[in-house]
Amino acid sequence: CGIVGYIGYREAWPIVLKGLKRLEYRGYDSAGIALMNNSGQHIYKKAGKVAVLEEFAKGQDITGSIGMGHTRWATHGVPSDRNSHPHTSNDGKLSIIHNGIIENYATLKEELSNRGHEFKSDTDTEVLIHLIEEIQKLEQIDLLEAVRLALNEVIGAYAIVIMDKENPDRLIAARKGSPMVIGVGNGEYFIASDATPIIEYTKNVIYLNDNEIALITKDDLLVKRLDNVVQTPLIQELELKLEMLEKGGFEHFMLKEIYEQPRSIKDCMRGRIYPEEGKVQLGGIKEFAEKLKNIDRIIIVACGTSWHAGLVGEYLIEEYARIPVEVEYASEFRYRNPIITEKDVVIAISQSGETADTMAAIEMAKEKGATIFGICNVAGASIPRLTHAGVYTHAGPEIGVASTKAFTAQVTVLTLMAFYMAQQKGTITTSKMIELLTELDNIPEKIQMSLESNDLIKEVAAQIKDSTNCLFLGRGSGFPVALEGALKLKEISYIHAEGYPAAEMKHGPIALIDEEMPVVFIATQNSSYEKVISNIQEVKARKGKVIAIVTQGDTEVKKMADYCIEIPDANEAFLPLLATIPLQLLSYHIAVMRGCNVDQPRNLAKSVTVE
Ligand code: G6P
Repeated sequence: CGIVGYIGYREAWPIVLKGLKRLEYRGYDSAGIALMNNSGQHIYKKAGKVAVLEEFAKGQDITGSIGMGHTRWATHGVPSDRNSHPHTSNDGKLSIIHNGIIENYATLKEELSNRGHEFKSDTDTEVLIHLIEEIQKLEQIDLLEAVRLALNEVIGAYAIVIMDKENPDRLIAARKGSPMVIGVGNGEYFIASDATPIIEYTKNVIYLNDNEIALITKDDLLVKRLDNVVQTPLIQELELKLEMLEKGGFEHFMLKEIYEQPRSIKDCMRGRIYPEEGKVQLGGIKEFAEKLKNIDRIIIVACGTSWHAGLVGEYLIEEYARIPVEVEYASEFRYRNPIITEKDVVIAISQSGETADTMAAIEMAKEKGATIFGICNVAGASIPRLTHAGVYTHAGPEIGVASTKAFTAQVTVLTLMAFYMAQQKGTITTSKMIELLTELDNIPEKIQMSLESNDLIKEVAAQIKDSTNCLFLGRGSGFPVALEGALKLKEISYIHAEGYPAAEMKHGPIALIDEEMPVVFIATQNSSYEKVISNIQEVKARKGKVIAIVTQGDTEVKKMADYCIEIPDANEAFLPLLATIPLQLLSYHIAVMRGCNVDQPRNLAKSVTVE
């Protein structure tokens, strides 16, 4: 799940180790490092956190100025020392670290076993390095060529780095469907699965493209495609700053990121909204402005929290631009045979820009002729490069595995897109736009006000922290907010939580309600307010514990609910942005009180680059 490599004149161990720690936020279950020095190749690997590996290597030979390290998120084989990367070839001369999945590993493994290869792990990765070794021996070719031929036989996704005992002055890296960044220094190169481990050493980076292999020595870099055509790599400058990757006084990244939202949303809107003129400008999709007038349909594809943002987008786009919208889980969409035409626009939403299922959904829709827009947070990631056009969320790096500020930024972009499309289609008047944009411009301040309920939310958290189940209910665009609230809670506190449309509750979840069951309602004063009140009564009648997110000054819900958390009044269009904040804080405090690892919840990964 995380890759770091170094080749140059400095000691590799501290660079690789620190890099792995920077990647910890992505989620993993084991870690390993390989180093090359005068006495040969040394591999250290352990199940568990990077700290376990660090402890294990104490007192051992960790010298050398070529190194590569890996944090693993298990796909094939349980997390264990032996399944941790690096893996080695049969003769032990080659070693590899790998992100992704080799889908045809079982057949390859069988063939290689028949040829006498013995495997020390249950991983698909080990099969790949044995395959490379076998090809090199059979064809009597150099390693680069053997890697190239082997990768041509492989089905799946990968970002790999390979080290060779026989050629202790080089590393080979390659990618397909899994990100890889090469940092360019002076007499040194850095390799990583995202830019975070590189940023403190150099700002100059090369994003390796799919189907490219790189041969890296300390002074030189050769990039080829799998079809053997040599490439001229493009060096880009990173915009990331080191302080963006640090906690800045907060106890957890998640809390820092929750508190960053007034600013991240402002950054997201900067230069895009013109309240006085009642205009939205989205430079990233400008060239499709005409096309938007005639599209038949929008399909939103995403996973996880991004999918929830998509559901909010559906309400907004249908309401304002009057274009039919479908929201699909990328993982389902890609394996159906969906009806897509050239008049469809597909919006792919992804914080990381690397989610494998979302990428596959984009590729399929692209083949069928649709126009693809991306909404991503990580500049230069794979999805922004796959799409025809797009709008970045500009929320800054999100380190907490559970998404917070990226979600509200995605919702902000979708709000802007809905208004932009409405503007193109003429389904909104300028005066209405002026009114909406003026209010949107004030949302960051209102989010700041919502954050002020933190102490109260902490008290509520203390009351419900020992629950085993929790229900989140909302109507209209409060429904996706409820889904996101439930997802946050289950992700970081491991309390089973479900989000449901409030009215649908009586067709199932109502059976679960008793005095032990907290039910969180999105009960703000909007078009469904009265209806939600009836739903609250249904829960109270069954002795459920009601926590309600209400509009400031509310009196009616207060009479019924056990706890009320206020948010500022706002147009219904902006309700999801505001109502999400207290739910993030609620999950956060519950998780902290339960002693959970908030920033790195068990089993979860920040970006899922495998399907
Ligand atoms: C993982 C993360 C989630 C995220 C989802 C989609 O499951 O843990 O927080 O919502 O992937 O990721 P993306 O980067 O595509 O938004």
